[in-house]
Amino acid sequence: MTPTAAPEAAPDAAASEAVPAPSAARASAAAGGGPVVRTQKLSLTFQTADGPVYALSGIDLTVEEGDFVSLIGPSGCGKTTLLRVIADLEQPTDGDIQVNGVTPHQARLERAYGYVFQAAALYPWRTIERNVTLPLEIMGVPQAERRARAAAYLEMVNLAGFARKYPWQLSGGMQQRASIARALCFDPDLLLMDEPFGALDEIVRDHLNEQLLNLWNTTGKTVVFVTHSISEAVFLSNKIVVMSPRPGRIADVIETDFPPDRDLDFRETQAFIDVAHRVRMGLRQGIADDD
Ligand SMILES: Nc1ncnc2c1ncn2[C@@H]1O[C@H](COP(=O)(O)OP(=O)(O)O)[C@@H](O)[C@H]1O
Ligand SMILES: [Mg+2]
Repeated sequence: MTPTAAPEAAPDAAASEAVPAPSAARASAAAGGGPVVRTQKLSLTFQTADGPVYALSGIDLTVEEGDFVSLIGPSGCGKTTLLRVIADLEQPTDGDIQVNGVTPHQARLERAYGYVFQAAALYPWRTIERNVTLPLEIMGVPQAERRARAAAYLEMVNLAGFARKYPWQLSGGMQQRASIARALCFDPDLLLMDEPFGALDEIVRDHLNEQLLNLWNTTGKTVVFVTHSISEAVFLSNKIVVMSPRPGRIADVIETDFPPDRDLDFRETQAFIDVAHRVRMGLRQGIADDD
C-alpha cells in the first residue's frame, strides 16, 4: 500500500469501496423472510482490447438469511466478479440480481453489506481503532459511540487491547481481523469476504477459520465467502457453490449440516471428507468440461 494522496484520502480503491454510503433506514427483504441475495441467469462479459472476456454466465444463486456460502473455483473463474456484482461494484451484462430484495445499488445505499478484501487495506497512519471506525466517521456517528463500537468489535475479533496500536505493529492475521471488525462495525446484515485469509500461512488461517465460524455462530450474519481452498470452504460453510472457469458457471451446489460448534478436528471426520471429495469432483468436472 503506497498512499500518495492527502492523508485522509483512500490509499486504494479497496478501502474506499469498503465504505458503503450512509443512509437513514435499512429496508430489508431479508427481514421479511426473502433471500438475502438472489441472482437469475446472471452474466457478465468484460469488453477488453483483446476482445470479450466472459467472466460469468447463467449464474443462479440464492443466499438465504443466516447462510454461510462459499464460492470456490480456480483462479479466474469469476468469484471476485460475482462478489463485486453483489456489492454493486460491477454491473451485470445480463440477468437479474437482488440484494435484500432491492437492487445492489439500493442495497449499497442502505449499507446492507460489509466487504473484506484479501489485503487488509488499513491506513498506516491511523490507529487500529481509528481504522475500524472510519466507516462510522464517514457516516457521522458521534465519537463516543464510535469508540464504544470499536471496543465491542475489536473484542469480538480478539483484538481487545490493540486499539491504540498501528497496523504495522500487528501481524498479518491480526490486521485481517481488524479489517473484519471494520466491516462489522456498522452492523451490516451481509458480510462479503474475498479470500480474506488467502495471503496468510496455514496455521494462522486455521485459527482464523475457527474464529470466523464462531463469529458467524454468535452474530447470525449472512456471509458470502470467496476461497480457492477446499478445506476452508467445507469447514466454514453450510452451502458450497463450486464454480467452473471460462466462463464462470456454477458446477455444483452442496449443502451441509455440520455441527455449529465444530472445531478443526472435524476435518478428520468422514462427513467432512465426503463433502470435500464432492467439491473436488465438481472442480475437476468444471475443468474437464473446459477441455
Ligand atoms: N475489469 C476487468 N476487465 C477485464 N477483465 C476482467 C476484469 N476483472 C476481471 N476480469 C477477468 O474476468 C475473469 C474473472 O476474474 P475474477 O472474477 O477476478 O476471477 P477470480 O476471482 O475467480 O480469480 C478473469 O479472466 C479476469 O481476467
Ligand atoms: Mg478473485
